Amino acid sequence: MNTQDQLQATIELLVQKGKGILAADESSPTIAKRFDAIGVESTEEQRRRYRSLILETPNLGDYISGIILFEETLGQQTDDGTPLPELATRQGVVPGIKVDKGKGALVNAPGDEITQGLDGLEQRLEGYKAQGARFAKWRNVYHISDHTPSRLAIAANAEVLARYAAICQAQGIVPIVEPEVLMDGEHSIERCAAVSEAVLHELFHALHRHRVVLEHTLLKPSMVTPGKAHGERADPEEVARQTVRILRRTVPAALPSINFLSGGQTPEEATANLNAMNCLAPQPWELSFSYGRALQQPALQAWGGKPEQVAAAQAALYRRAQLNGAARHGEYVSSMESAGS
Ligand code: 13P
Repeated sequence: MNTQDQLQATIELLVQKGKGILAADESSPTIAKRFDAIGVESTEEQRRRYRSLILETPNLGDYISGIILFEETLGQQTDDGTPLPELATRQGVVPGIKVDKGKGALVNAPGDEITQGLDGLEQRLEGYKAQGARFAKWRNVYHISDHTPSRLAIAANAEVLARYAAICQAQGIVPIVEPEVLMDGEHSIERCAAVSEAVLHELFHALHRHRVVLEHTLLKPSMVTPGKAHGERADPEEVARQTVRILRRTVPAALPSINFLSGGQTPEEATANLNAMNCLAPQPWELSFSYGRALQQPALQAWGGKPEQVAAAQAALYRRAQLNGAARHGEYVSSMESAGS
């Protein structure tokens, strides 16, 4: 298959009605934080057990089309010696890989950050592809304060995301482009909308400049919400209205799917917000999920590092995936949370 055909085939597998992506690509410090919260030490073996548990979830592929893995997981195996990316494929779930190297300060832009990892990316992608990865993810973050994100940060981050996406496509790897406007802060939903619109506007200009093929790209944005420390919460209808409005202004119809991150929303909030968006009039793109915490949190809590809890953890993960599958169709109602089916 040539590169274009590979990209198209991967997009068709990732973008399916009623399904979304599971982000299980926590870096070592992040997974240590998640394990710490449930009293589990983050050793390589515990991480292998936990990620095997996720991938062995019966019928995971019913509602999950792709899984984003961390580099370490790509080389790990189940107890019976099956490589984890191979297990994903057997489950009908496309394996992908987080390829950025994390963030650091953006020089001359106090309070802003930039993501590292472009040097040597082409060679790393060749290795990941040989290990089974068919798509990639790269995350840039934007902090909202009274002076951030600066124009410089918005321009520099867009440029990096576009360069990453172009390099992936040249290798036949579908890029997920993740510009995350962080929820931290006291800002209003209107301020989040204005920042998100500026960020996405700049990003799509940069993607165009770098000749990234939008038909072979996925966008993973944050939803438009008030800051975590803002006095008032927004209901799902308001989040949906504000989010879809800025997406319609900035994201070309050629892009097949928008897969939101959960960014610190509770599992119930993330599902309800996605559902509300899918209850609006039809949009040019699919509106789906690529949740980390909002899919995994109940499973992590059910597991608690105990082998006898593996089935309960898998049931919790499956259930969250199923509820988000319903939200893909705008068919989720909060009473399903307690209904058990
Ligand atoms: P959350 O859904 O927990 O925000 O994680 C998604 C992700 O991949 C962040 O990079």
